[in-house]
Amino acid sequence: MDMETLRQAVASCHRCPLHETRTQGVFGVGDREADWLIVGEAPGAEEDRLGEPFVGQAGKLLDAMLAAIGLTRGTNLYIANVLKSRPPGNRDPKPDEVAACIPYLERQIDLIQPRIILAMGRFAAQSLLLTGDSISRLRGTAHRYRNVPLVVTYHPAYLLRNPADKAKVWDDLCLAKSLLKLDIS
Ligand code: URA
Repeated sequence: MDMETLRQAVASCHRCPLHETRTQGVFGVGDREADWLIVGEAPGAEEDRLGEPFVGQAGKLLDAMLAAIGLTRGTNLYIANVLKSRPPGNRDPKPDEVAACIPYLERQIDLIQPRIILAMGRFAAQSLLLTGDSISRLRGTAHRYRNVPLVVTYHPAYLLRNPADKAKVWDDLCLAKSLLKLDIS
């Protein structure tokens, strides 16, 4: 499937019950030839309404974090979520929803061929790395997703509640940037 066919598949997807409660699928946004891929958890209320990832409060913080390392939405950067449909009431994704939806993200990664993946939050990290390890264990080292370097960091929604951890995210962003520079893929 090419990107446009994949987008249409997400728009009409009935693979899990979330299609019954969502407004629309939230496919992903950005440069389809980007070096950077940011992976979040699932659309929230604003994303469900507007059809774009990270456009609510957490998204504003994400944009500020990215700006700090010289990145802007749409330029050399693609943003997608593990789940393309909003879980009602922003509850945690269920394992069967992740299993149903992750092939879309896997195909997006195959098509974009990013040079660095930043997994934001526990769900993105655990879903891509197929681990149950906690975020504090996963942070701070370079992982690999199908040979692409992957860095785990806190989700911006967590940072809104725990601003003291912003310094750790800065470290994670610097690690990601240095891996990209090393070009070890
Ligand atoms: N949180 C996410 O993980 N993704 C979004 O798109 C919005 C909030």
